[in-house]
Amino acid sequence: MYRSHSCGALRESHIDTLVTLSGWVQKTRDKGFVVWVDIRDRYGITQLVFDEDRTPSELLEKARNLGREFVVQAKGKVIERASKNNNIPTGNIEVLVQELTVLNESKTPPFTIEDETDGGEDLRMKFRYLDLRRNPIKNNLVFRSKVSMEVRKYLSEQGFIEVETPYLIKSTPEGARDFVVPSRMNEGQFYALPQSPQTFKQLLMVGGLDKYFQIVKCFRDEDLRADRQPEFTQIDCEMAFVEQEDILNVFEGLTTYLLKEIKGIEVDAFPRITFDEAMKKYGNDKPDIRFGMEFGELNAVAQHKDFNVFNSAELVVGIAVPGGAGYTRKEIDKLIDWVRRPQIGAKGMVYVKCNEDGTFKSSVDKFYDREDLANWAKETQARAGDLICVLSGDVNKTRTQLSALRMELAERMGLRKPNEFAPLWVIDFPLLELDEETGHYHAMHHPFTSPKPGQLELLDTDPGAVRANAYDLVLNGNEIGGGSIRIHDKETQAVMFKHLGFTPEEAKAQFGFLMDAFQYGAPPHGGIAFGLDRLVAILGGQETIRDFIAFPKNNSGRDVMIDAPSPIDKVQLEELNLKLDIKS
Ligand code: AMO
Repeated sequence: MYRSHSCGALRESHIDTLVTLSGWVQKTRDKGFVVWVDIRDRYGITQLVFDEDRTPSELLEKARNLGREFVVQAKGKVIERASKNNNIPTGNIEVLVQELTVLNESKTPPFTIEDETDGGEDLRMKFRYLDLRRNPIKNNLVFRSKVSMEVRKYLSEQGFIEVETPYLIKSTPEGARDFVVPSRMNEGQFYALPQSPQTFKQLLMVGGLDKYFQIVKCFRDEDLRADRQPEFTQIDCEMAFVEQEDILNVFEGLTTYLLKEIKGIEVDAFPRITFDEAMKKYGNDKPDIRFGMEFGELNAVAQHKDFNVFNSAELVVGIAVPGGAGYTRKEIDKLIDWVRRPQIGAKGMVYVKCNEDGTFKSSVDKFYDREDLANWAKETQARAGDLICVLSGDVNKTRTQLSALRMELAERMGLRKPNEFAPLWVIDFPLLELDEETGHYHAMHHPFTSPKPGQLELLDTDPGAVRANAYDLVLNGNEIGGGSIRIHDKETQAVMFKHLGFTPEEAKAQFGFLMDAFQYGAPPHGGIAFGLDRLVAILGGQETIRDFIAFPKNNSGRDVMIDAPSPIDKVQLEELNLKLDIKS
């Protein structure tokens, strides 16, 4: 038996018990006549003690020679500690060791295995198995497991069944590039790894397997960010005979359940706002509503004077920064520099200080009088003591810029509190989105999303105006889930493909299987997929998903630990009928 207890289990009630512990050496303290060794496992740390009075000298010597991260087994008696440590649960006891076995030695680790490590990101990724021994990462993975378990519990109690769908498939368009896998047995042909199980879950509905879910890996070859990985996990769900309202209710239920079970937080019914409203109020389709600072559109109250910058703008829009009237000139100049950085791209920023005494001081005092500025304050809901920041220009760009400023200021002011949770639904997304570069429309969600009833005709005349039965679940400024009610008849699906620029032949070649299936009694259906990595990170009070994934990729899509991707040898290439002509 390697252990009778874990390294986190022993308390005062165990005093005088003989125990066996196994774990890694966290640290050794040698005072000459006494040696303390902290050993660690997944569950905690226990102090072992060896001393001249009670420990044979050979054993004391053995303890002295233990290195960091050696794997050891210790047998001994639990005793009360002379100087207690209130910071750890086992801090009242120690184990007086009678027998010590080194189960494995360890090289000195390249960084300290402590909560605050001296290892940089790259090093920690290369030795991820050592990083996993550190509490912050280990706790994140334990937390993730708990969330997954609760998801499974809730959904299976609601009658969902978990079905696995294949990974070697044909491309599913979710808007990113596919990772492809060459087929050895089918020369010159490739599988694609799923960007999501979208088409399969729809086929499961045609197959009558109503109420499907799957915790599933998805693969997308897209540029990486803190909230994106090339392989990530979805809680993928689909239901038959449902309308949007049914889906929103079930998955609001899941989210409410998770917030209660995992965080102990009760939330009210989730607000629902339309995509248009979200863009107007927050400049963003995934608004963080933990704090106000809603946009106030100022065209009507700012475009009647001689200030040409505003007069020529499509949109003049501002936000009130709580307490911002106290900012110094230098601080405001820094803010202006911030919005003018190329990443944000604003040309400038107009500001108004709403002084406590009811007066205003603005950067455009030359053009606007007190009454004008009071109107701006009204529109942006600014109060005495606030600073109004105003941007102007093209509608979409200006909204995006002001949204970035809103988030930045909220972050700086500590308004994005990690332990406050404000979920909401964003609904009525546009069906199509114009690609500015190509001038073509593509599906905003995916090509299987149904337009709102009665809007199909609009596709010909005003495609950008068509609204979809599509919804996103947003939590603290992050899109944690998205879904839609699907098209379930062949004709509508064919119309959609046509509008997305597919010829009937192309549509048949790529999605013939789905169109065929729709001819055999496809039920009305719809669903949603949550990003599990994102959900877990946000519930854990963070936004970087990498820290919640055991073996993540770095920002260049590499796994630096196993060194992937990497070249494959010539024989393998030949077997796959691949000829590479890469100049070295
Ligand atoms: P969508 O593309 O919106 O929908 O994806 C669903 C959710 O998955 C998460 N997500 C990601 N997480 C980490 N890294 C990524 N690269 C990444 N991409 C997406 C997001 C997102 O909300 N088939 C549809 C769902 C449906 O219609 O039912 C789909 O995949 O949290």
